[in-house]
Amino acid sequence: QLRRPTDGTFLNKFPLVTTDPNKLAAQAKEKLPETSYNYIAGGAGEKATMDANRLAFRQWKLVPRMLRETSIRDLTIELFGEKYETPILMAPIGVQSIFHEDKETGLAEVCAELDVPFIMSTAASSTIEEVAEASGNGPRWYQLYWPQDDEVTLSLLDRAKKNGFKVLVVTLDTWALAWRPADLDNGYVPFIKGTGVQVGLSDPVFRRKCRAKFGHEPEENIVEASVAWLGDVVSGKSHTWDRLKLLRDNWEGPLVLKGIQKHPEDAKLAIEHGCDGIIVSNHGGRQLDGAVASLEMLPEIVDAVGDKATVLFDSGIRTAADIIKALSLGAKAVLVGRPVIYGLGIAGKAGAKEVLQGILADLDQSMGLAGIQRVGDCKREMLRKVVYGG
Ligand code: FNR
Repeated sequence: QLRRPTDGTFLNKFPLVTTDPNKLAAQAKEKLPETSYNYIAGGAGEKATMDANRLAFRQWKLVPRMLRETSIRDLTIELFGEKYETPILMAPIGVQSIFHEDKETGLAEVCAELDVPFIMSTAASSTIEEVAEASGNGPRWYQLYWPQDDEVTLSLLDRAKKNGFKVLVVTLDTWALAWRPADLDNGYVPFIKGTGVQVGLSDPVFRRKCRAKFGHEPEENIVEASVAWLGDVVSGKSHTWDRLKLLRDNWEGPLVLKGIQKHPEDAKLAIEHGCDGIIVSNHGGRQLDGAVASLEMLPEIVDAVGDKATVLFDSGIRTAADIIKALSLGAKAVLVGRPVIYGLGIAGKAGAKEVLQGILADLDQSMGLAGIQRVGDCKREMLRKVVYGG
């Protein structure tokens, strides 16, 4: 099903989006309003962690093997008992309507076509119900920004369950919004302007609380309602490990924590608290600037977890080689974020699809060139850590 650079199908087939990973952001910049572009391209602080995410990939090099039977590659994987065509997932990215009117519903459709699990953000511009409809029979997971208000939390979990979201991803690293100069300089926080965020407004429990608090429907004062929503979800108040019981008791499916990386000890705590998986991630360098690159911590966390939980990875994936490196360091699958949203910004869902197809075609070909037949054959011995040029 995957096209290859040499099979003829690529001639004139990527008309919308550049296939050069280093030009994608520049192409998106031409299309997007400055505020939207800065929101996706920006990071926390001086972007030291964002840069580190990329530099960490540069420090690992693939050591290819020759004369192996790799003419047909098998990209399939299994996560939490479900089989998927490829080892990539769509990272949860909020407020997608600020990038294109196709927004989450369009991207969920594309992901369903490619059998890529669509991880829907709590900060989405489409509702849970709309995304479920667009995704149809496609795989979908729900990412929770964990409200302080348990009643709202349970309402979100309930709607996600009823709408066929199979895995719950709880993002831990964004309980307060980081210092992001690219947005601060524009006075731009899409959530506060009520731009692009739907979910708070569409949740019946939140609406009821909004009416009780302000005496009107959220739409009547969108900024007021959005600030209330933000105040609850990104409230500047962290949850603690003991509070996980609430989620564990109310979510029967797999429970995955996103944003573990500061310490392998956190990975062990996740298992002790009944989690099924963790996503090693630093939010693409958008939260704690100065934090270590996610890839740097991946091997230690994989070792700490063993076979007790599924380890996934994001933050800095741009190319097929990056995917092979993360898989070889022990991730079972990776989340792709910014590149796909650049594609969405450039040409809507068709652009996002081209980016995903390009990454997958490159992955298929690169695995072959590296002498790897199956995803499970990606092992640490495929890699060497190097430092060129000091
Ligand atoms: C994100 N990310 C994110 N994560 C999450 O759990 N919920 C969310 O709503 C968002 N929103 C969001 C918006 C934008 C514009 C970006 C770029 C990122 C983080 C995302 O899931 C993922 O961790 C990063 O995108 C990984 O970094 P790279 O590989 O995209 O640089």
